[in-house]
Amino acid sequence: MINRRYGDPSTVLHLADLPRPSPGRGEVLIEVRAAAVDPGVWILITGRPPAARLAFGLRRPRQPVRGRDLAGVVVATGPGVTGFTAGDEVYGTSDRGSFAEFAVAPVTRLAHKPTRLSFTEAAAIPVSGQTALDAIRAAGPLTGRRIMIIGAGGGIGAFAVQLAVAGGAHVTAVCGPGKAPLMDSLGADRVIDYTRAEIDRDGPVHDVILDTAGCRPFPLLRRALTPAGTVLLAGGGHDAPGFLGGFTRQLRAPLAGLFSRRRLRPIAGHERAAGLEEINRLVEAGHLTPVIDRTFPLSDTVAAIAHLAAGHPTGKIVITMDR
Ligand SMILES: NC(=O)c1ccc[n+]([C@@H]2O[C@H](COP(=O)([O-])OP(=O)(O)OC[C@H]3O[C@@H](n4cnc5c(N)ncnc54)[C@H](OP(=O)(O)O)[C@@H]3O)[C@@H](O)[C@H]2O)c1
Repeated sequence: MINRRYGDPSTVLHLADLPRPSPGRGEVLIEVRAAAVDPGVWILITGRPPAARLAFGLRRPRQPVRGRDLAGVVVATGPGVTGFTAGDEVYGTSDRGSFAEFAVAPVTRLAHKPTRLSFTEAAAIPVSGQTALDAIRAAGPLTGRRIMIIGAGGGIGAFAVQLAVAGGAHVTAVCGPGKAPLMDSLGADRVIDYTRAEIDRDGPVHDVILDTAGCRPFPLLRRALTPAGTVLLAGGGHDAPGFLGGFTRQLRAPLAGLFSRRRLRPIAGHERAAGLEEINRLVEAGHLTPVIDRTFPLSDTVAAIAHLAAGHPTGKIVITMDR
């Protein structure tokens, strides 16, 4: 599934036959079984915000195959690869594209798939799960502390709720209508339906707020925070306007927090084998289970992207291969 130019997904995204990629040094070739969608994919299709083109190709994406998260079976290994062999079931990220029958990925961003997860569940983890992991780490010690997760029912949020619960935090989940039963099942202590109440409903009681929705002004976030609390900003909304789009909010945060004890910190997820290994341990211990919104066959990737862009997924949207 490729786009050779930026634009509306229904116009620029299409299926194409390309040569099977070959694994370079430190890479493996994977027969892809499932590949997840996240807001970064939308950015690479649309070329918005424009600042993203500085990194991914000014006039067109340098790399045409879309998708990053994947789960599948190793079919060949490149030079210098140890620890992985043909037939291994793996998951991780590829920066040469994963919405394809075959993909290459560096072993530095791969792990063996936990046996208790399906390929669909494993593919849902890498980008969002590792961002949630890094955010929860940035939150510091959690036992007995109150953490609010805004966008709790989304890709990052559904992982973050489970990680915070596993860490012993008291979790307030902020989400839209209909997601309260899911939040209860993930272990959240309180749920705020943001269409009925604002996040400062209970006053300044949260030690940490993880904001993945990126649409509340900083003063409102502070009103739900203890005087020495911290706001962690995961994103500014995939379709925020301007040259920098949602990144503006990330860049403004340190300045906006300068004269207050309440800190505003942007967070960045890191994709690495060690993060996936840590997630594997949490999965095996029963602390983490991916939440899957819907699956779409590869041929329906445009519909999958439209579902994501509508802004209210429940957990992760996953592409499955039409085999
Ligand atoms: N920092 C990093 O390293 C990093 C990595 C990956 C992604 N990101 C960014 O993080 C952001 C979130 O990513 P994601 O994968 O979690 O996206 P997502 O799966 O689209 O989830 C976003 C969630 O926000 C919720 N939401 C929408 N409007 C809301 C509102 N007004 N108030 C509260 N919640 C609202 C939606 O759920 P409801 O149905 O409940 O409204 C949705 O589930 C994106 O901007 C993405 O680009 C950052």
